[in-house]
Amino acid sequence: MQRVGMLRPNEILEDREGVLHIDGVSALELAERFDTPLYVMSERRIRNNYRRVYETFSKRYRKVKVYYSAKANTNLSILKILEEEGSCLDAVSPGEVFLALKAGFKPERILYTGTSVRDDELRFLSESGVTINVDSLSQLRRLLKISTPETISVRVNPEVGAGHHEHVVTAGRESKFGIWEEKVVEAYRTALEAGVKHFGIQMHIGSGILSVEPFTVATENLLKIANRVHEEVGIGFEFIDLGGGLGVPYKPEEEELNLDLLAEKVTALYREMVEQYGLGKPTLCVEPGRYIVCDAGVLLTRVNTVKVTPFKRFVGVDAGFNTLIRPAMYGSYHPVVVANRLNEPGEETYTIVGPICESGDILAKDRMLPRIQEGDLIAVLNAGAYGYSMSSQYNSRPRCAEVLVMDGEYALIRERETLHSLLEGQHYPPWLK
Ligand code: LLP
Repeated sequence: MQRVGMLRPNEILEDREGVLHIDGVSALELAERFDTPLYVMSERRIRNNYRRVYETFSKRYRKVKVYYSAKANTNLSILKILEEEGSCLDAVSPGEVFLALKAGFKPERILYTGTSVRDDELRFLSESGVTINVDSLSQLRRLLKISTPETISVRVNPEVGAGHHEHVVTAGRESKFGIWEEKVVEAYRTALEAGVKHFGIQMHIGSGILSVEPFTVATENLLKIANRVHEEVGIGFEFIDLGGGLGVPYKPEEEELNLDLLAEKVTALYREMVEQYGLGKPTLCVEPGRYIVCDAGVLLTRVNTVKVTPFKRFVGVDAGFNTLIRPAMYGSYHPVVVANRLNEPGEETYTIVGPICESGDILAKDRMLPRIQEGDLIAVLNAGAYGYSMSSQYNSRPRCAEVLVMDGEYALIRERETLHSLLEGQHYPPWLK
């Protein structure tokens, strides 16, 4: 496989005579057929990413479950692909549970990890039969007033967090998530006294983590807390869930997460501590979102304008932070290539900007790219996670379409919104009629 611009090649991205192909489908053809902006997702890459995680962990530990973290991408077809693969699912809103059930996930395969959860949401979750992972004592008490679930899990703050940006560090002192050790014992005792029979324990330390160490440190802390619960409350665990956060390299100089090493270290620690503490035979769970879908997705966007100022060379495209908010929100870097000029050398430094009326509407800053003309097609890579799922109608721009590709075939999996979508659910008050 040939190199695609700055990007390390992967199994789906290919340069065919200067034109980007995604699992055998021409990016130009897709843009022509479905218009832009357009998210293109590769079924093959999603399946292989899932299998890589599952196999890497399960060959080292007997009982492993992978919970795909739906928030990264909730397109029904993507959920369906993962359901077929045998994945479980991490949901954080009633909407995600609803979509997962629609895609065919059985409630037993769904773990709900909400924060700041309403009573009516707790009622909906109890009725749908998913396992609830509580984030506070108050949530637990409110849940127990509604029903007594067979199984309860507690999200623990293991005191260490990590992540690619402070907004996505989800454990440690500054974090709103999880229950701290001293209250964890009380949570399990409360649940046990209420008649709950089975227990899980969970953590999620953050997102976009490329090194192994934060996972091992947090796993050790979590298992110590699990042991304390075991000793003080006298319960064992059906599952111990280490959360998601498995990173994917975006920048050319970033090293891939060493998944083998991660699985090796974490399962060794897990096996040793679970045995030493006599915690039973809990299933080891992980909850990757980004790792499964990130590099399976490409955002295609058309060049409207090339504007040269005394200081900058701007390329105005039709996707902005309404379509992909990560660069504006976290300063994230996404690899960018000119999909119809892959075989041309970098000649100019361009900043790629969208149509949104804010100066922060930048998709990519100061990139060396081939000479760009109006009508060219830009591909923003690694856009499959937290791309569409975080998109909005800001500036009253309808959301874009999504396409799935597989081995030279393609299909529309979400229609582009229309101007009429902007009217949906809006009403004039009677006095304006
Ligand atoms: N489990 C829980 C409870 C989570 O809150 C998350 C993500 C995950 C699993 C999956 O994390 P992942 O494996 O995808 O890193 N919008 C941000 C990422 C926010 C992640 C929030 N929680 C971004 O675009 O970088």
